[in-house]
This record gives sequence, C-alpha cells and structure tokens, in this order.
Amino acid sequence: MGRIKNICCIGAGYVGGPTMSVIAQKCPNIRVVVVDSNEARIAAWNQEDLSQLPIYEPGLEQVVAEARGRNLFFSKEVNQAILDADMIFISVNTPTKTYGEGKGMAADLKWVEACARQIADVATSPKIVVEKSTLPVRTAQAIKDILQNSPSKVSFQVLSNPEFLAEGTAVQDLLNPDRVLIGGDQDPEGQAAIQALVEIYQAWVPMEKILTTNVWSSELSKLTANAFLAQRVSSINSVSELCEVTGADIEEVAKAIGTDSRIGPKFLKASVGFGGSCFQKDILNLVYICRSFQLHEVADYWEQVVKINAHQRERFAKKIIKSLYYTVNGKTIAFLGWAFKKDTNDTRESPAIYVADALLDERALLAVYDPKVAEEKIYRDLDFLENRSSEDNKRLVQVAESAYEACKDASAVAVLTEWEEFNSLDWERIYSSMQKPALLFDGRNLLNKQALEKIGFIVHAIGKSSP
Ligand code: UDX
Ligand code: ADP
Repeated sequence: MGRIKNICCIGAGYVGGPTMSVIAQKCPNIRVVVVDSNEARIAAWNQEDLSQLPIYEPGLEQVVAEARGRNLFFSKEVNQAILDADMIFISVNTPTKTYGEGKGMAADLKWVEACARQIADVATSPKIVVEKSTLPVRTAQAIKDILQNSPSKVSFQVLSNPEFLAEGTAVQDLLNPDRVLIGGDQDPEGQAAIQALVEIYQAWVPMEKILTTNVWSSELSKLTANAFLAQRVSSINSVSELCEVTGADIEEVAKAIGTDSRIGPKFLKASVGFGGSCFQKDILNLVYICRSFQLHEVADYWEQVVKINAHQRERFAKKIIKSLYYTVNGKTIAFLGWAFKKDTNDTRESPAIYVADALLDERALLAVYDPKVAEEKIYRDLDFLENRSSEDNKRLVQVAESAYEACKDASAVAVLTEWEEFNSLDWERIYSSMQKPALLFDGRNLLNKQALEKIGFIVHAIGKSSP
C-alpha cells in the first residue's frame, strides 16, 4: 500500500473528533471523513457556529475552522466513507458491559464489532483498519477474524494506535504528544501498514516519539498507562484521608513527594476522585483480563485502585451529610461543577454524579451549576443510575445558570470540578446569600481555604483537617 490519500474515521466523539481534526489540519493532502451513526452529532460538527461543536475542547474551534470543508468532512454516509478510504480508524465507544458475561468489568465490544462487520461487508479494496478506541488486549485479533470473513475477500491489516489524549487538553496533547504508539503484525505486510500510519504522524511528530510494537503490546500499554495514572490519583487520595485525621496537609505532602525526580510532580492532586470514560473502565478491563488468566493477586492489586476511588467519593458525600447533622432532607446543597474535570463538557463517570446520588438518597435538594455541561445531560446522568424516577430527579435537582444562582439560599456549597472561574467568584456575595452557618466542601482543593474562612465559611477541603 502506498501513501494514504483517504482516511475514514468511524465515531465522531471525544476521541475521533479532535484526533481527525488535527490529522486533517497537519496533513492537508489527505482527505479525512469522520462518520457517525448519530446524525444529530454529525449535524452539530457541521454547524456554522463553531462555538456549538458537540464537544468542548480548548483550541478545537480553530483547528476545525482551518480544516473543515478543505480536507476534513463530517458525514453520516458511513458506507460511502468506508468504500473510499485506504485507512479506517475505529473510534467508537467501548463502555463497561452492563449485562451478561463480564458485566460491570469487561468492555462492551458490540459497537466495535458492528464497525468491523460493516467494514467487512462494504469494502471492495484493501484497507488498513486502525483501532483507536481503548480496547481489551487481543481485540485486534477479533477484528481481524471478522474482516477475514469479508465476502469480497479483500485484504485487511489491523493496527492498534491507542489514544493518549486527555480531555480538556486534547488539542495540545495531539499536537505535541509524549509519544505515538503503533502496534501491528510483525510480517512484511504488517510492517508496511505500520509505516503508512507512521508517515501520517511524521507530518508533525518527531520520529523518536513514534514507537512501534506488536499489536498486543500496544493494546496492553494503553490499559496499563491509564492504570498507572489512576493509581497515582488513588494513592494520593488514600493519603488524603490520613492527612485529614492527623493534621498533615495533603498539598504540602504532595509537593514534598513530587519533588523527588523519580516520582515527579504530576498527577498528585488529591480530589473527590477520578472520573472520565477511561480510568475505571480500563482498570476493570485489566482486572477482568487478569482474572480470566487466573492471575488473582494481580487482579486484586489493580482492583484496589477503583475501590479507593469509590471510597473517596463516598466519604466526601458522607462528610457533607455528617456536617449537616445527618439532616440533609430538604436542605439545598449547591454543586459547582458537574464535568469530570475542567475544560470539558464530558460527564462520564464524573464523581459529581455519585456524590449527588448519595445526597439525593438522603433527600437533599441540589442546585447544580456547570459552565459547559447542558441541563439535559445532568438529568440524563441521574436518570441513568435508575435509583430514582426521572420526575424525582427533576423535582430534587435544579440546574442553575450561574454559580450565584446555585448558591442562593443553599446550606452548603460543594466544589466538584476545578473550573478556573470558581476562583474568581465574588465569594462574599455568595456567603451573604446562603443559609448560616455556610458550609463549603472543596472536592478539588481549588479555592483559598483561609480567605474563605475569613469571610465566614466553614471549609472542609480534601486532605486537610476540618474545623
Ligand atoms: C485519561 C488519560 O490521561 C489519557 O492519557 C487517556 O487517553 C484517557 O484517560 P482523561 O480521562 O481525559 O484522560 O483525563 P485525566 O486528565 O487523565 O483525568 C482523569 C481524572 O483524574 C479526572 O477526573 C481528574 O480530575 C482526575 N485527577 C487527575 C485527579 O483527581 N488528580 C490528579 O492529580 C489528576
Ligand atoms: P469516545 O470518548 O471514545 O470518543 P464517544 O461516545 O464520545 O466515545 O464517541 C463514540 C461515537 O461513536 C458516538 O458518537 C457514537 O454514535 C459513534 N458510533 C458508535 N457505533 C457506531 C457505528 N457502528 N457506526 C458509526 N458510529 C458509531
């Protein structure tokens, strides 16, 4: 296969959208078509008004503005895009299974499988199929098996090219990656396919940052990179609980730990817990794979990272309930932030959802404000838990237009996402509009605790001893 001229990406989500936008921007001679079975999502990507793109990512508007209509296209014509492409990226969702074998642990591959079948049915010329979604080890083999049964008998190469972008910094991560990982077969055809993808990235990534491996190493590296990152968050969060009872300050401890160059300062921010579509899913996947190979000690080791995360969210909610004298019923708690981290409108596995759930069990009233998350998404997240009727969620949870509106008459404020704008709020105004005593629970150690205490707030912050 020569130089790639036409790329198709199936899945216009948080991974497919930004990744293809950057490839199109950096490779103006390659035609990149992003397709999705969700027509509304495609329509949103094609909107004139770039501030209304379906996902929020700093810097993405400019990249889309440059490439869209030139060599970047968003389309609902999946079959046509498959037919035209030399290389097809699969960037569809792979959530944890909610049914059957591996329920709650393994990745649900039904969307990946559907893509592979569709490619097998439609393709009439050789294709390089690239798995971009995070997938369990050996998924490439499953895709290969399906493609080999293609009626047209065309040849396929399957590569693993896991995505390491973090939401909120996706464009920067894509433009300037720590590394690009490409796994493929070790035979000459596999190596040629790897080379075709290497050439695309070479347009802007230095060669020494492009790592090539066998397929399984690549797949496993993605799962374990996320497991290591999540492990750091759970490690510091476990220490935060110890800080709260001993009088040590987690920020001082994290700084002291992180200045050791062997450890490094990143990913040591104690929080109400990690969220996002990857960490929990990938670790559960890793645990499931280990168990399926009877590696129970290894499985238990990684599972603990997820358990500490759930524990961190639970104890945050419990602290709110306890501080309100176990009578949360009918009291309003303002939530600042709903997204799983700042600078994204993604709420998948956001700790806010779980903290809200625990408080709603106590019949609290919630007033939620998030600068980027739409009201419908907040209700959808709560309805998805199936712990309360949709009517109850609507009755108990109000979505506010501003932080001031959310906090008015509230008994407590909880910071769930580290949006910068919360730092520059007029906290004196918020204090005077709240019920007294005014409690503040900082789940991100975002705010200046001493300044707030001076105003009169009773502040509980992660990893700091409470009043
Ligand atoms: C992660 C990986 O970083 C990325 O490489 C992979 O491709 C996808 O999964 P993402 O989930 O987008 O990216 O965000 P990330 O920045 O890793 O944060 C994950 C969660 O951990 C967030 O909820 C964040 O708030 C939390 N976190 C992160 C902490 O609580 N403390 C930290 O120090 C760092
Ligand atoms: P990610 O964070 O992995 O990008 P998203 O859920 O944001 O996940 O995006 C995945 C996208 O893939 C969704 O927009 C979904 O509609 C799309 N998708 C899933 N299966 C298919 C399919 N078989 N054909 C086309 N699009 C699909």
